[in-house]
Formats: sequence, C-alpha cells, structure tokens
Amino acid sequence: MPVYLDHAATTPVLPEAIEAYTRALTEVGNPSSIHSAGQFAKRALEDAREQLAGTLGCQGIEVVLVSGGTEAINLGIKGLYWAGARRGANRILVPEGEHHATLDTVEWLQSYEGAQVEWLPLDEQGFVRVGVLERALSREPHTVALLTFLWANNEVGSIQPAERMIALAAAAGVPVHVDAVSVFGHLQVDFTGMRRRTGSKAGAGLAALSVSAHKIGGPVGAGALVLSRDATIVPLIHGGGQQRQVRSGTQDVAAASAFAVAAVSADRDRVVEAERLTALRDRLIDGVRRAVPQAVLSGPEPGSDGSADARLASNAHFTFPGCEGDSLLFLLDAAGVEVSTGSACQAGIPEPSHVLRAMGRTEDEARGALRITLGRTSTEADVDAFLAALPAAYAQASRAGLAARESALGAR
Ligand SMILES: Cc1ncc(COP(=O)(O)O)c(C=O)c1O
Repeated sequence: MPVYLDHAATTPVLPEAIEAYTRALTEVGNPSSIHSAGQFAKRALEDAREQLAGTLGCQGIEVVLVSGGTEAINLGIKGLYWAGARRGANRILVPEGEHHATLDTVEWLQSYEGAQVEWLPLDEQGFVRVGVLERALSREPHTVALLTFLWANNEVGSIQPAERMIALAAAAGVPVHVDAVSVFGHLQVDFTGMRRRTGSKAGAGLAALSVSAHKIGGPVGAGALVLSRDATIVPLIHGGGQQRQVRSGTQDVAAASAFAVAAVSADRDRVVEAERLTALRDRLIDGVRRAVPQAVLSGPEPGSDGSADARLASNAHFTFPGCEGDSLLFLLDAAGVEVSTGSACQAGIPEPSHVLRAMGRTEDEARGALRITLGRTSTEADVDAFLAALPAAYAQASRAGLAARESALGAR
C-alpha cells in the first residue's frame, strides 16, 4: 500500500460516512415533496443540517448546502459582491496567496462586473499584513463590497489572525467571507461566537464562511456556505427556491448525511487529533531538516506550545534548492510515497506557486516546493517511510536539476 501524505488535496472517506451515504441512496423521496417519502427525506436532510450546524457553531437555517468548497466560495464572494454593488460598493479586499477558487472568482468579477480588486500583501511567513488591511478599510471612498480571506493557507499552513481581521472589517461596516476549507476539522469553527467576539452585525463583519466535505473524511461534491441570517446575498443559481432562495436545486440528502457524519466525527476528535498531528508534523519537519539540511521550511515555524501554533498541525511544506518539486514528487511516488508540490499545473506545465511568490520567494525557489499533509489515517510509520525515501529522491532530483541547468547554459 502506498503511503498517502496529501490530505490537503483530499482525505479518505470515513467508513461511517460511506455507510450514511449508501443508506440514504437506497431511500426514494425529494425533500421538497409533501408525501411521506418526501417528508422522510426532509427529516434526514434537516437532521444532517442541524448536525453540521452543531459543528460550525451556527443555526441550521444558516447552513446552505452546496456542491463543495469551490461553489461555496463563488456564492459567498459573488453573492456579497453583487449585494454590495447594488448600494454602490465595488471594492474587494483580498490577500495574495488565496486558493484559486477565490483568486479566479475575484478576477472574474474584475473582468466582467466592474469590481476593483485590492490585493493585500503577505509577509514572508504567509501572514496577511494586517496594517495594510486596516489602511485599505479606512481609505476613501468607503465603497468596499467585501473582504474575503483564507483562514489558513492550504499550501504553507499559515493560520491568519481571523478574528482580528473580521473585527477590523466589522468596525468599518464591511461584510466578510472566510474560506474555512483548510481549517474545518482542524480548528474550532464557531460562526456565532466569532460574530459576537468581532462585533459583527447585519452588513458588517462575518457574513459567510465556506467549508468542504472531502477535506474532512466526507465525499467529494458536498460543501456548505454558512450564511448569517441577516446577510444580504444575491444567489448564483436560480430555480425552485430551495434553501432560503439562496441556492436552488433538489437537495442531496445522501451527500448531506455523509458530510454531517464526517463533520461530527472530526469535531469530536479535533482536540486529540490536533495534538497527535502536531507531534507527527514536528517529527516530519525535524526529520527533513536532518536528512536534507539545505531544505527550507515555508510558512511559520511550529510553536513549542501547540495552542499558540500559527501553523496547521497537518501541514509541512519545504523548498528544496536546486531541484524541481515535480521531480521529487515523481521519485517519491515511485518509492511508494504520495505527496504534493502544493500548487496547480497550467495545461500540464508546473507553475511556480503564487503563494510562495507572494511570500517573496524567487521563481527558482518556488519551483523546488513540496507539501506533505497529514490526516486521520497518518501514522509515525508513514512519516518514517517518507523520511526514508527522501534522501535518495533528493539526490536524484538534484542531479536532474543540475543536468537541466547545464544543458540550458549549453544551449545559450
Ligand atoms: C483552501 C481551499 N479552498 C477551497 C477549496 C475548494 O474546495 P472543493 O475541492 O470542495 O471545491 C480547496 C480545495 O482544494 C481548498 O484547499
């Protein structure tokens, strides 16, 4: 069996989530139908919604079920933007280094809907420069439609000071969307508590938050936008008017049930798992530094105290000077260890990570990136298998890197 260390990409579906999913699939009934089968489906759906709400610290009615993190983010950002545009607000504040679901959405709004996008720079550890956010919020004209940000970076694991950022936006009367896909299941998500602590209210502060099922042991193709009851949003999808008219379409009871089972399980084990993964991550980081001293950790240094740790417990990310992350990935894969470079390919050509570039790393440095992410099934043996395979993979990838540089020089 290969060793799977790419839990930030997706996670194995929990057996109990598969069971809930397949059980629900055997039942007929549209939850919007009046007859008994419909009402049975509706009960299962609303039970799932309530369970999800319990893990997100919100009310059931605030959970808008969608097809995944990407749809939730599109709905949160476009919906809040269009609502803002109606009252003449067209500025979007967004940090650099966001997930593509956010980047491409705000760029689309810029190209087609007249949005004025203001990128907030990251520091060298991947944190938003909060002073810049503060200045952007106070700059006239006061026409900010929304602030959107990624709570914890999915490549390098930096956890943003989310409540501080939301409180600043709340004080400036600006609604906020948070991409919580990478933190849900790892950190506590307490939507109502965050709203209270940050002084959020209608139209100001935390309005919407996105989560996805397949990052926490649920199925791909399920997610939710937590949408405050008092938020004003314009829907993306029109039709039968389900879910507060915010997201039309027959609701997927099986996906909701499986998502709820996974969320309850992740929430129940969150604290214990965070401690276990922190220890595994630190073993991995120490091991890489010992095996390849040239490797450079990206993102924040793990704290000695887990609670003060500003890095996701599940994330380790390194750049390896002089070699391509892709070469390392293929060599490790051949040795039976599955990891990631963390960034996307464009038409099959590896792109240097926009996150690392935003953190001030050079294109060459960014090309040597490798992301190793842990999850519920990860063990010490997995970490040790990775550490055992790394030196040979690094030596071979470095030789390939050197040969490529020499032939590029020769071709000049
Ligand atoms: C931080 C972050 N946001 C959004 C998404 C998109 O979620 P989904 O795959 O459910 O569409 C991902 C998944 O890669 C992610 O890591």
